[in-house]
Amino acid sequence: MNARTGIVLSRRLVTCDAARATKADPLGVVEDGAIAIEDGRIVAVGPAAEVRAKRPDLSLLSPEPLPLVTPGLVDAHTHAPWVGSRDGEYAMRMAGADYEAIAAAGGGIVASMRAVREASRAEIASTLAARLGRMASLGVTTVEAKSGYGLDEASERKQLEAVRDAAARSDLPRAVPTFLALHALPPEARADRAAYVARVEREVLPAIAADGLARYVDAYVDRSAFSTDEARPVLSRARALGLGVRLHVGQFADVGGAELAAELGASSVDHLENVGSQGIAALARAGVRAVLLPVASFTLRQAPPPVEALRAAGVGLVVASDANPGTAPTESLPLALALAVRLYGLTVPEAILGATREAAASLGLGEQAGILREGFSADVVAWELSHENALVQPWGVSRALFALRDGALIAGRVD
Ligand code: NIG
Ligand code: FE
Repeated sequence: MNARTGIVLSRRLVTCDAARATKADPLGVVEDGAIAIEDGRIVAVGPAAEVRAKRPDLSLLSPEPLPLVTPGLVDAHTHAPWVGSRDGEYAMRMAGADYEAIAAAGGGIVASMRAVREASRAEIASTLAARLGRMASLGVTTVEAKSGYGLDEASERKQLEAVRDAAARSDLPRAVPTFLALHALPPEARADRAAYVARVEREVLPAIAADGLARYVDAYVDRSAFSTDEARPVLSRARALGLGVRLHVGQFADVGGAELAAELGASSVDHLENVGSQGIAALARAGVRAVLLPVASFTLRQAPPPVEALRAAGVGLVVASDANPGTAPTESLPLALALAVRLYGLTVPEAILGATREAAASLGLGEQAGILREGFSADVVAWELSHENALVQPWGVSRALFALRDGALIAGRVD
């Protein structure tokens, strides 16, 4: 894919740059703005007249000003490399069956495990590539992608290799690989839980780290998943190996996962439908961002996380899709933003920052993506919408005119 060089004009340029933000304008909007793009990077941002005067050598990428331009969206929590479908289980759940009970009976995560174990790496990679392409058409230019449906070394590795295959393609969103080391106990490990966890820590994780297959390591810490005592050695080893840590915490019960995330200097703590004031204080002290997953709590008919308490404590808020075949059957980060506003009471600017600047920072890309600023990657989305409020309404349709990643077109078209 060829990176474009030129100037994009926009009536509303939503920079998401804290350096431009004010209390009244938290998104740092430049009206009648422009960005100049060269060699895949943003080389100038500001009022159109200034940018054009600064770079008279560059031509216009599109002749007319585009109505709304934002940074490419960043989806900081997905289970994207899955295959198969759990539509039957969904129908059962909608008719009243319980998610944890289905999982205990061998469905849920283990159902996706069976599908992943049966699939080849090429099948997973092509399913993932198609999925990432659809995400791009929704304005998403970076996607965190977790394994966690293999549940043995070969199958986890197969999922992560499929992510690496996708990450090598410049015509798709940037993929950030996460080894979801503790997700569910596979059936063959039921007899010896401790041995499974020890093997993940001592064998599987070091091998995956040595092959550079993951940038983050995740663990599902909950009453029907893994305890803090099980997760701690795995995640500590991840830190010792130089990897970042993200955690699924408090989806069903507060079992101390937020405190563990703070102790480990995690990059994010995700879900948080159930977290107490001590956990929130620990996150705030340690500067751990909260990744909110409103599609999952909506699917599971759960009450929202304590957003006001998180906000009041100064915990950074990220919004992600949680795209997975069980609890979040969607690929749409814009849908998650819509629900974050409708169900969780986020303001529109909070939701947008949670899917741009804050999400990028939680993935260690805070100096590269999520902001329209000179020197950053040219990850840029133009929307067929006149105002950023419309990003969270209407629902369910793609309104991206085009998406650029590193200046190259990954969705739509530039006229
Ligand atoms: O984030 N909580 C655990 N993991 C996923 C769902 C897994 C599944 O049902 O496949 C989640 O909700
Ligand atoms: Fe998840």
